[in-house]
Amino acid sequence: MKITAIITAAGKGSRANLGKNKVLERIDGKTVLERAAQPFLDNTSVTDLVITYSKPDYETVRALFDSADKPISFVEGGDTRTASVANALENCDCDIVLIHDGARPFVTDELVERCIDSVLQYGSGVCCVPAIDTIGLMDGEEITETHRENNCIIQTPQGFLLYELKHAYSFIGAEDSFSDDAGVMCKYLHSVRAVLGDTKNVKLTYFEDFIRKPELRCGTGFDLHRLGENRKLILGGVEVEYNKGLIGHSDADALTHAVMDALLSAAGLKDIGNIFPDTDEQYKGISSMVLLGRVKGMLDEQNVRIMNVSGVIQAERPKLSPYVSAMRASLSTALGLPEERVNISCTTLEGIGIVGREEGIAAQAYALVTL
Ligand code: CTP
Ligand code: MG
Repeated sequence: MKITAIITAAGKGSRANLGKNKVLERIDGKTVLERAAQPFLDNTSVTDLVITYSKPDYETVRALFDSADKPISFVEGGDTRTASVANALENCDCDIVLIHDGARPFVTDELVERCIDSVLQYGSGVCCVPAIDTIGLMDGEEITETHRENNCIIQTPQGFLLYELKHAYSFIGAEDSFSDDAGVMCKYLHSVRAVLGDTKNVKLTYFEDFIRKPELRCGTGFDLHRLGENRKLILGGVEVEYNKGLIGHSDADALTHAVMDALLSAAGLKDIGNIFPDTDEQYKGISSMVLLGRVKGMLDEQNVRIMNVSGVIQAERPKLSPYVSAMRASLSTALGLPEERVNISCTTLEGIGIVGREEGIAAQAYALVTL
């Protein structure tokens, strides 16, 4: 049993308007086309691949599959998708052919498997999902009918017996226009078997389809330092006038420490204790704002974008509200954020506990980031 997968990539991607064929656009470092082909390369039942290309993309497309461990034929496409598939079919010598749009990068191993099983059992298998919106039949500017029940949205992969699909394709006339292969089968041969697709298996068509929705992550951080004589009181990078200061290896800026830990936590990185250990002499007396700059650099390196930071300082004394706007300014400058995305509040603890007894000052912070 020989199974060939045709991956169509010979379009121009004109609606996506990316200045190149959309299937060559990268998503998280890998092209749309590579992602579309991967489950077929991985599936052990698929024997080989045929990839349609358009002339200007030939070298680029070929290079993407240099190290593929399955035979791949590259076939020049035609002016339409149907013409491209027709060319590819001429190069197939198999029992079952699976056809998949190179512009559907979210296809899964499971869909490939379902299509193959369906062809083995019913002679065809076409991925589709139930229509959610009502589908209208248009006659020029007029809608003449609407349907939803019994309607489905057709996807790829679509699987057929090669000899049947070739037979159906042999009837195609010059006036025919098909957006998929099930359409050719239905018009010229017989109905095809529906296979449950996946709503995530979308075809990337317009520019907006390439804008990835960012993933949101939140993080939390907490710090507490003891108050002592002969120390400056630094919070959020701002020196607060007081007869005591916080004791620590660095400048003991509890608020900035909590902010750093919140950011690192949101980014899935280790905390400041690990990154800037207090056993390391280079951090003795260092300004925590310098460390915050390094944390920001680490996030930038991982493409983590900060949405907002929110901190609360717990201190019985001194009164901190006069310093809040300076703290916001200093933290937002260090993080490259507008001030409205960095907010600080202050609270006393009603004389209760370590903070209440004025033995120390604590700070808690939350950060929201996008990956
Ligand atoms: N395709 C093809 N040969 C063509 C036209 C399209 O192989 N002559 C492929 C595309 O590369 C894509 C799939 O068929 O993987 C679906 O087509 P579509 O989404 O229309 O892609 P494009 O034709 O490239 O885009 P557009 O119509 O916006 O120009
Ligand atoms: Mg097209």
